[in-house]
Amino acid sequence: MVWAMTEERDLLVVGGGKMGEALVGGLLDAGWAQPGQITVTETSPARRNELGAHGGLAGRHPGLRLLDGRLPPAHSAIIAVKPADVEGVCRRLRETGVRRLLSIAAGVTVRDLEAWCPQGCAVIRAMPNMAALVRAGATAIAGGSLAGPADLEWAAGIVGSVGIVVEVPERLLDAVTGLSGSGPAYMFLVSEAMTEAGVLSGLPRPVAAELVRHTLLGSARLLTETGESAEVLRAAVTSPGGTTAAGLRQLEARGVRSAFIEAVAAAVQRSRELGMPGPSTAR
Ligand SMILES: NC(=O)c1ccc[n+]([C@@H]2O[C@H](COP(=O)([O-])OP(=O)(O)OC[C@H]3O[C@@H](n4cnc5c(N)ncnc54)[C@H](OP(=O)(O)O)[C@@H]3O)[C@@H](O)[C@H]2O)c1
Repeated sequence: MVWAMTEERDLLVVGGGKMGEALVGGLLDAGWAQPGQITVTETSPARRNELGAHGGLAGRHPGLRLLDGRLPPAHSAIIAVKPADVEGVCRRLRETGVRRLLSIAAGVTVRDLEAWCPQGCAVIRAMPNMAALVRAGATAIAGGSLAGPADLEWAAGIVGSVGIVVEVPERLLDAVTGLSGSGPAYMFLVSEAMTEAGVLSGLPRPVAAELVRHTLLGSARLLTETGESAEVLRAAVTSPGGTTAAGLRQLEARGVRSAFIEAVAAAVQRSRELGMPGPSTAR
């Protein structure tokens, strides 16, 4: 095979798992790149089959190149493999001439990435969340020592194709991990609990589940589309002496607000622990 990947928009995506697929799908749908500019390299044969199948990523986007883990020469790369696989991939990237690297691997620091990657490569670390799979992600990015404004803009363009993006100093990525990284799981727990409450109140389970799903979706849309704060929106739905006030009183009495504060604090702490080097690291 003849490799010819030197253009700035040409992109090598290492790892065609859930996140790799979501990012590439987002980039192509947004018109950020043409299929022929993207190469996805994926070691799992089963996963490659899925991606190459008729309705799969490469099937839907003719021209997209799918490789078996080989790393061709590339100007820019995204690392979307599990954290434990990142060091090996970075060291192999030294032979590709990569100049820009975006890593979405949880807990792998910019310092490690810069040490493992080709010399002179600009490194950007991102913490996306699961909602990137439906193009409603919330991602924070942090640039390394060699990442200039153009590199950050490049990275923001990539993760911005699957949701919103904010830039933070790297030291705040643990806070992002505990808040928006783990956040979808907190919302799923809320969904489970509310569905259970609906069933206890006499609703058939599928009806309760459907009502809860759309209550969460509608509330999120009100938060993002009206520009009003959560406090203002909550006040708008809470009539004095009414049903919502009675429900909210129970939530406050049972410490739901402080439970969320403690939950995020615990997740942030755990993220810090997992990011620390040492034998107990279990990223
Ligand atoms: N999923 C999320 O919600 C989420 C959120 C934030 C951050 N992240 C980060 O995103 C990264 C990817 O997560 P994911 O959920 O997409 O994982 P995933 O579905 O397991 O995808 C990773 C894929 O990369 C393949 N792979 C492993 N080594 C490779 C190599 N050397 N070259 C090419 N492909 C290789 C894996 O194959 P094998 O399975 O055969 O190893 C797997 O198919 C992780 O580092 C995670 O921390 C994920």
